Formats: sequence, C-alpha cells, structure tokens
Amino acid sequence: MSRQRTILVTGCSSGIGRHCALRLRDAGWRVFATARNDADIEALKGEGLEALRLDYADTPSIHAAFAETMQATGGRLDALFNNGAYGQPGAVEDLTGEVLRAQFEANFFGWHELTRLAVPVMRRQNAEPGWGRGRIVHCSSILGFVPYRWRGAYNASKFALEGLFLTQRMELMDAGIHMSLIEPGPIVSRFTENGLRKFLDNIDIEGSVHAERYAKELARLKASGGVNRFRLGPEAVYAKLEHALNAPRPRAQYPVTLPSRLMARIRGITPQFLMDRLLLGSD
Ligand SMILES: NC(=O)c1ccc[n+]([C@@H]2O[C@H](COP(=O)([O-])OP(=O)(O)OC[C@H]3O[C@@H](n4cnc5c(N)ncnc54)[C@H](OP(=O)(O)O)[C@@H]3O)[C@@H](O)[C@H]2O)c1
Repeated sequence: MSRQRTILVTGCSSGIGRHCALRLRDAGWRVFATARNDADIEALKGEGLEALRLDYADTPSIHAAFAETMQATGGRLDALFNNGAYGQPGAVEDLTGEVLRAQFEANFFGWHELTRLAVPVMRRQNAEPGWGRGRIVHCSSILGFVPYRWRGAYNASKFALEGLFLTQRMELMDAGIHMSLIEPGPIVSRFTENGLRKFLDNIDIEGSVHAERYAKELARLKASGGVNRFRLGPEAVYAKLEHALNAPRPRAQYPVTLPSRLMARIRGITPQFLMDRLLLGSD
C-alpha cells in the first residue's frame, strides 16, 4: 500500500484554500490546513482536516504551525501550498508605508518564512529512499505579471513573489524539489469582499485626488460576481494544483482563467501603448 502524502495549505478559511484543502483530503492526502481565527480553525476540524493557526503577519505563528505539523508527521512534509493572502486596493499615492508593509508581510515575507522552513525538510527527505520529490506551490495571480490600476500594493507583492520564487525554483532543481506558481485571474471567493474591507479601513477615500474614480471602484468591489466566462470557481485552481503536485514534470507557471491565459500569451509581444489601452479600458 502506498504511503499517505502530507501537505500544508494556508489560508483555508474560505475560497481557494478551503476548496483545495477539502479536495486534497478527498484525494487521500493528509492535509494540514491553516486559518487565522478560532472559529475558522474549528470549522476546518469539523471537516476532518488537521487545522492550525497561522498568520503570515505573525512570524511566531508560522514557526508554531510548522513545528506542530512536523511533530504530527515525524518531521516529514511532501508538499506546501502557500495560498493565504489579501489584496489591498488603492492608488499607489494613497498607500501609506505602513499599509504597503502590511501587504508585504502577509503576501510576501510570511510566504518566504514558511518556505524557508519547508525546504530543509524536503531536502533531507528527498535524499531518502521511498520519498518522492518535495513540491512547493505558490498561489500568485495574473496581477503577479500584469499591472492594474488601484492594485499597486497587491501587484507589487505578487510581482515580488514571482521574482523570488521563480529564482528559487531554479536553485532547488538540483535538490529534486519542484516549485510552481499558479496565476489565477478572477476566481469566486471572499477575495473581493476582504479587499473592500481593506480599502475602507486603510485608504482615505474622500480625501484622495481619486475620490471620484474611487466611487466607481467601490461599486465594483461591492458587486459580488458569480462564475462566468472570465471568472471561474476555485476548482479551476485545484486542477492546476493537482498537476503541480502530481505531474512528473510540473510547470513553473500555471495561468488560470481566460484573462490570465490571454495576458500570459500577449505580454512581451504587445507594444506598451496597446497594453495600456487594454488595461485602462478594462477597469
Ligand atoms: N479570488 C481571486 O480572484 C484571486 C485571483 C488571483 C489570485 N488569488 C490568490 O488566491 C489566494 C487565495 O485567495 P482567495 O481568492 O481564496 O480569497 P479569500 O477567500 O479571501 O481567501 C484568502 C485566505 O487568505 C487568508 N489570509 C489573509 N491574510 C492572511 C495572513 N496574513 N496570513 C494567513 N492567511 C491570510 C484569509 O484568511 P481570513 O479569512 O482570516 O482573512 C483566507 O483564508 C490568494 O493568494 C490570492 O492572492 C485570488
């Protein structure tokens, strides 16, 4: 009988993380699912998952969750899915340093911290017989390679992820550890709702030179959208995660949704003035 594989998945209170954690459990993985608050952790336990508290902005919580996972698995981990994040809306000139730093703590530095804990474990076990190649998958975004108005903080954090982890991917090849980035476009989740809260909490909307345009942006954030031609459900991300975890040769980048696949194709071959028109016209 084959050994049960173990995976640590972050940001499982809702959306992509929750969906993927449950699907992985159903596929036979031993899933360590993280969330930030007690109610969400209890709900995940109720789903039969091993649930832990992890907040990327709280470094001790990253170390504690990882240590607990290692204790439960006897120091083994087959895969890590860095997923938990939020999108801070607002024009770049309206972002205080503090707000921008908070975006990077959650979306970038915390991911690096957790990845640094997982890599030595995977390096060790990959050298042992009976253990497969460790896999690390990061949930990036179409906004990890395409700039978008009012999304500077989030764009910057995801561009930074792409730079850091595409480099680390090459550095890990010799060790037999696979690293992949999933790059979704619009996915149905609580992402927009959570972003709206950050917009209201952290941006001086009335006092901004962009106040009028922000009204349009607010309306857009408030309109919750379902699945359509451009926006898919979280199962579309799971399909790519499954490939990144199981394929003999996983890809470096997995664009998900039509907008992301399209942008991945045309960037670099489209003149900037046309890209500007396309991106400014689409918001
Ligand atoms: N939905 C989209 O359109 C879309 C598109 C491209 C990429 N993505 C990426 O997909 C991933 C999952 O987002 P989602 O769409 O599933 O949105 P979501 O429903 O808002 O889920 C985000 C998850 O991240 C968690 N999170 C937020 N801040 C965190 C922190 N500091 N530390 C640890 N976890 C934190 C949230 O926990 P709380 O409930 O406690 O806040 C929640 O569990 C993110 O990396 C996001 O950038 C989403």
